[in-house]
Amino acid sequence: MNSPAMQGLAINAPAHVKNAKLVAWVADMAALCKPDSIYWCDGSDDEYRRLCDQLVAAGTFKRLNPVKRPNSFLAVTDPSDVARVEDRTYICSSKKEDAGPTNNWMDPAEMRATLNPLFDGCMKGRTMYVVPFSMGPLGSPIAHIGIELSDSPYVAVNMKIMTRMGKGVYDVLGVDGEFVPCVHTVGAPLAAGQKDATAWPCNKTKYIVHYPETREIWSYGSGYGGNALLGKKCFALRIASTMGRDQGWLAEHMLILGVTNPQGKKYHVAAAFPSACGKTNFAMLIPPAGFDGWRVTTIGDDIAWVKPQADGTLRAINPEAGYFGVAPGTNTLTNPNCMASLDKDVIFTNVALTDDGDVWWEGMGDAPAHAIDWQGKDWTPQIAKETGAKAAHPNARFTVAATNNPALDPAWDDPKGVKIDAFIFGGRRSTTVPLVTEARNWTEGVYMAATMGSETTAAAFGQQGVVRRDPFAMLPFMGYNMSDYFQHWLNLGKKLQASGAKLPGIFCVNWFRKGDDGKFVWPGYGENMRVLKWMIDRLEGQARGTEHAFGVSPTYQELNWTGLNFSAEQFNTVTSIDKAAWQAELKLHEELFQQLAYHLPAELTATKAQIEQRLAA
Ligand code: OXD
Ligand code: MN
Repeated sequence: MNSPAMQGLAINAPAHVKNAKLVAWVADMAALCKPDSIYWCDGSDDEYRRLCDQLVAAGTFKRLNPVKRPNSFLAVTDPSDVARVEDRTYICSSKKEDAGPTNNWMDPAEMRATLNPLFDGCMKGRTMYVVPFSMGPLGSPIAHIGIELSDSPYVAVNMKIMTRMGKGVYDVLGVDGEFVPCVHTVGAPLAAGQKDATAWPCNKTKYIVHYPETREIWSYGSGYGGNALLGKKCFALRIASTMGRDQGWLAEHMLILGVTNPQGKKYHVAAAFPSACGKTNFAMLIPPAGFDGWRVTTIGDDIAWVKPQADGTLRAINPEAGYFGVAPGTNTLTNPNCMASLDKDVIFTNVALTDDGDVWWEGMGDAPAHAIDWQGKDWTPQIAKETGAKAAHPNARFTVAATNNPALDPAWDDPKGVKIDAFIFGGRRSTTVPLVTEARNWTEGVYMAATMGSETTAAAFGQQGVVRRDPFAMLPFMGYNMSDYFQHWLNLGKKLQASGAKLPGIFCVNWFRKGDDGKFVWPGYGENMRVLKWMIDRLEGQARGTEHAFGVSPTYQELNWTGLNFSAEQFNTVTSIDKAAWQAELKLHEELFQQLAYHLPAELTATKAQIEQRLAA
């Protein structure tokens, strides 16, 4: 490869960057991408301010009214660049079987041959930002380091919020530390003197590519969310799941919350839900009436890295440092903690701009008389009524630091992580799946998670509202063969059991069952505390529950109903097991198992047979 010196571009690595492999890689990437300049991010507040000002000057950011929303910005994207592109996301392991049937695969050499011409000169006319970040508290034994090279200042400022980004990373990295190299381009080079024609440069061609064996990430053509903020889905889930398989730990699409009872005893729960199914709401839950003295605190809202300890316990960290949450539907009733987090220091993307320089989205509260929608058009409630136009894109997001969250757990940044007492898996299902079920054992829990189904949402491009199997809520985020991942979970359970430790409980929830009128029956949000409390009772051996084919669910009497008018009949609507629906459900499990037949653990087929027998009995 041409050396950058031959391109006439000095790398100018700062003196505190002592990692030779890193410097050589930046040089190689600069030679390939041919940016006009290289900027090494230091992660300082001053740098953040400068880059935000630059984004305002370029028209990518609009500064919001400093009185209403201090230090906050609005970005709107190209209409073609609004969500993760799962059909353009690849796992390029050397063997196709290692990517498995749920991932797009291409031979790594072929992919490199495809990407190299695209990346050649892709940053011309732009600056390459070198973004050093730690996923997890700096230096934590559970954390890992990445370096993202990106030609997008929007990415650089978002990474400052979403990760521990900055100079301190180089101290942890030292001269020969390991890092995951991540290279990102919007794929819109500029000719000499050419200015961007749009405030959101991107490319119709998109590739989100992972090389799990060499732990590299290459992203082309998109500037948005998980496609571009490579610490999140690409590293913390797809690459990290592969690292976890090799090193004996778990990288999961899970929030982590702490829940403290009135006696001061604290539990930690990690919960997996598919995208846009209320993870942020659950992680910031405020206990309702009847739960005096209970407190829920947030460790993370999207991703958990979980490592087994010598004593057989599991300790988890949130590898992220901020929230990239879905705005529509968020309001002071459904998630007051989240709304308080958004008072200041926020980057909003694809929400509407109000006439007084603030933001609005569907489900936030009273609609403004007039706003500019996410596509820059006039929006009024009347226009919405007539045309169905949305003020905010359904996948509009906010980026905000975890430290803005009033319910932040004091241990959220603890390098040791927190001990996990229970795992929860939850899909969005209008029918069939009960409000809550505990697995009778680890294998049954893995089965529940593996066969989870959920109705699709706007977080990814494609049809919405269709049930798809989403094992462990990891379908779009698995870095290797899904069946090998099931085996990895089963193996971990055996290992923990062998150490004599008490295994975390495993629960399956569904907040989304609907009645005959098509409306949600369970009130959800803060009321989910009632279910959480039942889980804790189960962990403490204080609730017997009632056993059915799929596991153990609560009786009506076992939930605390103080402050909520919810009848036994309504409870039955959200917990009943309909035999015919379950027989149909098990057929879908069978279809999934056929798709995943290669390396499918025999324990899961055996568990399915047991459920079938129980159902038939
Ligand atoms: C997310 C997602 O952005 O899951 O967290 O799509
Ligand atoms: Mn997510």
